[in-house]
Amino acid sequence: MAIDFDDQSGGYPGEDERVIAPTLLRTDDADASLRPQTLNEYIGQEKTKENLSVYIKAARMRGEALDHVLLYGPPGLGKTTLANVIAHEMGVNIRVTSGPLLEKPADLVALLSGLEDREVLFVDEIHRLNASVQEVLYPALEDYRVDIIIGKGPGARVVPLPLKKFTLIGATTRAGQIKKPLRDRLGIPILLELYTADELATIVRRSARILEIPTQDDGAWEIASRSRGTPRVANRILKRVRDFAQAGGDGVITREVADMALGRLDIDKLGLDITDRRMMESIIRNYGGGPVGRETLAATVGEEAVTLEDVCEPYLMQMGFLTRTPRGRCVTEKAYRHLNLPIIRQNAIDNGQLTIDN
Ligand code: ADE
Repeated sequence: MAIDFDDQSGGYPGEDERVIAPTLLRTDDADASLRPQTLNEYIGQEKTKENLSVYIKAARMRGEALDHVLLYGPPGLGKTTLANVIAHEMGVNIRVTSGPLLEKPADLVALLSGLEDREVLFVDEIHRLNASVQEVLYPALEDYRVDIIIGKGPGARVVPLPLKKFTLIGATTRAGQIKKPLRDRLGIPILLELYTADELATIVRRSARILEIPTQDDGAWEIASRSRGTPRVANRILKRVRDFAQAGGDGVITREVADMALGRLDIDKLGLDITDRRMMESIIRNYGGGPVGRETLAATVGEEAVTLEDVCEPYLMQMGFLTRTPRGRCVTEKAYRHLNLPIIRQNAIDNGQLTIDN
């Protein structure tokens, strides 16, 4: 049942020092106590929960394993949490691994053959499974069987090894990188979306209760509205704000303390941190607002392209600051206004007639 919270393989380059890094950091270990166990305790993703509860109820009534699941979406939205909730609701154990940990087919066979009826195997970062391991997975998902090859060359024999009827839950931030044969075998695809500030405020109040941090509602709201739609970020900021509340005040999280702490953490009113702002500023100052290709932009900002793409862009797009076009990334007028920069149009630069709109 153990989850390896120390597993850093899902981290994005350079984000260890970011308070708003949405991937698991070593300091998040204590979050285990914050994780909801049941669908009822799980806040947000309402449609997903409603559908899942039907699938789980039906599978339980039939006494069968739940169909295989793919959880995809930006990091920090609770894919691991939801996998644990699903196993709990099914009343079965969960085993947790991740794509990069399964180096050889034998690694996967060892895990699969140890599963009991209806148990869950959770594979985080399933897009990083190598091709030879994926080959083993196909018959396992489809027919609950792995084919063991004994011997080499013309004398080699294939011995089918039957498996118990299990559920695979794969999670990824990059659904586009999952090959069709694998995607087709995961019957329940679930897209996790960024949370609303209301949902995050509920999560912050719940976490504050569990961690026994006195928190006023407007303090929780201040944290929620600056957590870029991501529960993991909200819970991390909550703990940092608690430090400021305790060190500088009476330990109570008020709106004022939260605002001061977030300011000290360089997280602005809309939840953007220094990397988000640097990325937008770079598109504006160096590329006339865009479009600019992802690799070019990453090199200019000094970040890895995957970090920008998986961590910064989903929130910036949701906030209406950024668009992705076939020719690259563009910022919107809203981004100029947020950064207090004059709007200079790319076509004006191209034509040599630099004009400033405001
Ligand atoms: N903690 C982190 N994510 C959560 C969620 N979706 N619901 C409740 N608590 C959470």
